This record gives sequence, structure tokens and C-alpha cells, in this order.
Amino acid sequence: MNIQPADRLSKLPVYLFDALDAQKAAEEAKGVHVIDLGVGDPDRPTPKYIIDMLKQAVDNPKNHHYPSFKGLPEYRRAVAYWYKTNFNVELDPDREIMSCIGSKGGVSALPFALINLGDVVLVPDPCYTAYIPGIVMAGGEVHFMPLLEENEFLPDLAAIPADICERAKLMLLNYPGNPTAALGPLSFFEKVVSFANQHNIVICHDAPYSEAVFDGQRQPSFLETPGAKEVGIEFHSLSKVFNMSGWRIAHACGNADVISYLSKVKSNVDMGIFQPIQHAGIAALTGTMDFTREMCRIYQRRRDVLIEGLNKLGWNVRKNPATFFIWTRVPEPGISSTDFAAKVLKQAGVLITPGRGFGEYGEGYIRIALTVEEDVCRAVVERIQKAGLVY
Ligand SMILES: Cc1ncc(COP(=O)(O)O)c(C=O)c1O
Repeated sequence: MNIQPADRLSKLPVYLFDALDAQKAAEEAKGVHVIDLGVGDPDRPTPKYIIDMLKQAVDNPKNHHYPSFKGLPEYRRAVAYWYKTNFNVELDPDREIMSCIGSKGGVSALPFALINLGDVVLVPDPCYTAYIPGIVMAGGEVHFMPLLEENEFLPDLAAIPADICERAKLMLLNYPGNPTAALGPLSFFEKVVSFANQHNIVICHDAPYSEAVFDGQRQPSFLETPGAKEVGIEFHSLSKVFNMSGWRIAHACGNADVISYLSKVKSNVDMGIFQPIQHAGIAALTGTMDFTREMCRIYQRRRDVLIEGLNKLGWNVRKNPATFFIWTRVPEPGISSTDFAAKVLKQAGVLITPGRGFGEYGEGYIRIALTVEEDVCRAVVERIQKAGLVY
């Protein structure tokens, strides 16, 4: 039998990190111990108080059934509490909040809830690669909004052509940004709300790094913006700020209509989050946030060690204000980001991500994850120096 994939699969790229994993495996097969600064997956364990809550909840047979796709009412109330405490945003847990099995799945499902064939979705470039497949599979058309360093990695809304604004139904945004590590100020969100109203475009702000912010700065929630709930939703995830990436727990909040359309898609194609994980999530969201603050201090120190070391080697690295990522220009002139990342892997045994993997406007940049301990950051600098990658 000759089994052929559906045509739509040919429109999907190989997932960026699958390709990088293959390169890493090839180096490791040669006996190299690769230091992986690729994926933004928290390296430290989930805090004990969250794990303890999971263990307790797992022992309760009431938690062994099919979970509601919307999330336990207690989980949604915990999300509302967290938004009120952290952002002074009021949310109705029944109509304005739903749980998601990770925000990747939620963001990917959203186009199926909103997009008709040929509708345009405005997407930042560079962006988290998982934004694209959902749009493509839903039959939408992607229009990229360049994120330029000279504009603080904010899209220039005025530069979007009038006919595209006319056909656009949805805009994706992400601050603090992956891969750009940039913050999205409230003044920008205000412009976004007015743009959305002017062109009847739904806004989806993806904010999994909202608390991973350094140097005393702050990332506002999109939902803090006056009028935001009338035009859009925000995804938030427990993966990054509570070190729970493997647990698959996140939520979407905001406009009640958009939440109900997304719920309709999700209720038809998947289930909710295993209830003990939701109880653990409640412990995370209603706790003190001390763990998250401590993790931020740790990432900030790693960032400073790495940047100081690399700058001594002439890398001229810019300081990222947020996220677990350094996003900086390729230090070597005349080489593509892909070739440079391959060179760093081959010569220093360090895996970094070429900016081109995140889009056309990522070319010329590299992304370095801060998800290894400080002594490993020092080892990275030493390896790079030894490999002669000095400029
Ligand atoms: C911008 C962005 N959104 C969403 C996700 C996915 O997070 P989750 O673990 O909640 O699916 C990631 C993970 O890297 C991300 O960088």
C-alpha cells in the first residue's frame, strides 16, 4: 500500500527544534558533549509545593475522570485571582477564562475558531514558530509584520497595507517576545486596541514569559489596556514561570465571544487537563510568586555572566530585558545565522538557534537560551574562546 500524507502537510515546515536536535545528535555521535542553549525549557525542577499538591490530588479518585475541557471552576477562579493580583485585571471565570493543554495547543487552535479560507492573519516576524501551522491548516493566509530592532521589536502598524488590513481577521502578538526578548509597553497595546477597532481585527496576545522580566522592569498584560477585552484574548502558561513545561497547563482569557469560539473547537478535538495537574496549577497561581521572582534573579545572573563573557570576546551582545533568551546580532560579519550557529556547534560544541529559523527578519540574529546553570554559562564562554570564535 502506498500511503501518502495529506497535501496540507507539505505546507508545514520541519519543526525548527527537530532539525536542531538532529544536528546536535550528529555532534554527540562523534563523542562531543554538546551544551544545549537551544530550546527555552526551564532547566530547574518544578517547585516542591506544586509537586506536593499534585501528589495529594492524584490520590483522590474524584480526579481520575475525564476533565472538563474548559477547566475546573476552581482553576478558572485561580486564574482570575492571579490576573487581579498581578495586573489588576477583572475576569469572569465562567465566560472569560478557559484552560488549555499548554498554550502551544491553544494558539494553534485559535485560527480554526476564527479564520475562514483566505482570511489574513497578521503575525510578527520573527516569531515563535508554532504560530504558523494552525493558520496554514485552517486555510488562512499569513501576513508577516517585521519586528525591527530600531522599532524596539514592535510591529509598525501603520506600515501594514490597507488591503491587508481589510482582509485581516486576527493579529498575533507576543511580549515579552520569543525570540526577540523585547517588552511590549502599554502605550503600544493602546495603539493595538485602536487599530483592532478600526479594522475589526481580533487580537491574540501570547504571554507565557510575562513574569520573566529583569532589571526591575515590568511587562503589562494586554488585558490591562483599556478596551482590550472588547477586541481580544491573552494566553498565559505555567510552563515558563513555574517551571512546568512538561505538565501542559495554560489558559486563555479575555473576550467572552472569542473564548466561546475557541472552547467550541477545543471541546470537539481534545479533553481538558488532568485534574490533579489543575490542582497543582491552582497552588502555583494562588501562591506567593516568590519562586518565580527567585528564578528571574537566577536567569538575570546567567544572562549577565554570559553577556559579560561573550562581550569580552567581541560579540557585542545586547542585554535582553526579559525571557530566557539572549537575542543578538551574529557577531561575525558576512555569515548567515544558520552557518554561524552550525559553526558554533561544530567548533565549540554549543547549540544556539539561528535567527532565520524564526522568520525572514530573524536573519542576522542568533538566539541563546539561558536555561543552564551559571557555571555552564562560564563553560560556554570558555569553549567559544578556545574555538577562536573571537571578533
Ligand atoms: C512565545 C511562546 N508561546 C507559547 C509557547 C508554548 O508554551 P506552552 O508550554 O504553554 O505550550 C512557547 C514555548 O516555547 C513560546 O515561546
